[in-house]
Amino acid sequence: MSEKKGRILTGDRPTGKLHLGHYVGTLANRVRLQDEYDTFLVIADYHMLTTKPTKEKVLESRESIKEVVLGNYAAGIDPDKVTIYVQSDIPETAELTLLFSMLVTVPRLQRIPTLKEVMRTQQIEQASSGLLNYPVLQAADILIVRGELVPVGKDQESHVELTREIARRFNDTFGEVFTLPQAMIGDVPTLVGIDGRAKMSKSLGNAIYLDDDPETVRQKVWRMYTDPKRIRATDPGTVEGNPVFIYHDVFNPNKEEVEDLKERYRKGRVGDVEVKQKLAAAINEFLEPMRKRRKFLEDRPDDIIDILRAGAARARPIAQEVVAAAREAMGLTTLTRESVMKLYCRD
Ligand code: TRP
Repeated sequence: MSEKKGRILTGDRPTGKLHLGHYVGTLANRVRLQDEYDTFLVIADYHMLTTKPTKEKVLESRESIKEVVLGNYAAGIDPDKVTIYVQSDIPETAELTLLFSMLVTVPRLQRIPTLKEVMRTQQIEQASSGLLNYPVLQAADILIVRGELVPVGKDQESHVELTREIARRFNDTFGEVFTLPQAMIGDVPTLVGIDGRAKMSKSLGNAIYLDDDPETVRQKVWRMYTDPKRIRATDPGTVEGNPVFIYHDVFNPNKEEVEDLKERYRKGRVGDVEVKQKLAAAINEFLEPMRKRRKFLEDRPDDIIDILRAGAARARPIAQEVVAAAREAMGLTTLTRESVMKLYCRD
């Protein structure tokens, strides 16, 4: 471990399958950096409670934990290198969240853009204090294992910024305990959905999943939103901001083919059929190795349990040590006969 450049902490909520947006936002960076950095991956089940705290949802998220492991594995994460664990297996996270929550004001949390976004999309009228505290919990995830680099999608940037503020404030108030982490945003900060809406997301139903089969990918690409002003193949079309070409740029490694398609599209010399067929082929080629890797682990469900158990066994002692250091710095030490005597005899 000692030759590593530092520690990565990143995470996923167990909402279900991972999609291309996750890939370009954060998975690609994780996979690329897993050899260089001591990498920790938290599966954030406490975070799931912030929106729908029902028994049913909790049970559903247990299933999704497996999905998140499979998705990361499929994308190329090597569980022998990366420490993967479930957030609630590290209950110290809850204590650190509590301590951190004292250092953040309510208006500061109300200004975090993801809060309004989640309330709007999930139709939540009043935020619970747990939902308001969502980014504080995330700060605890990051700082409890001394994460230094945090590969995330663009939407998570404000949470890492808050984490830095919390670390700074803690250090200023109680002494240097935490290093300030740095966010790392993917090459495609936000991938558009297949419907042309700003962001690919499960809840918007506009995602291509990493384990979609070839036919599903073809159908989804076929339905993709393109230039709405272009009616016929002979109409000149707009390439810029057109989801089909955004995806070509990201997922089609054949740059010549992409440039040729763009040029003909601009001139009205290519039909949507060809553009989309080539895109579906490129995405399928991109996903094929992931489908294989996924299948390998899917056939070994016990390995998933072992991965998570080993992950918690590695992460928890680190978390315990960090929380102990935080308590110590704050002066929250257990009273002993000696320390009480000292308090009484202070002057
Ligand atoms: N909030 C993140 C998301 O929705 C998931 C997450 C939880 C996370 N804890 C984290 C990401 C810590 C990075 C670091 O995608």
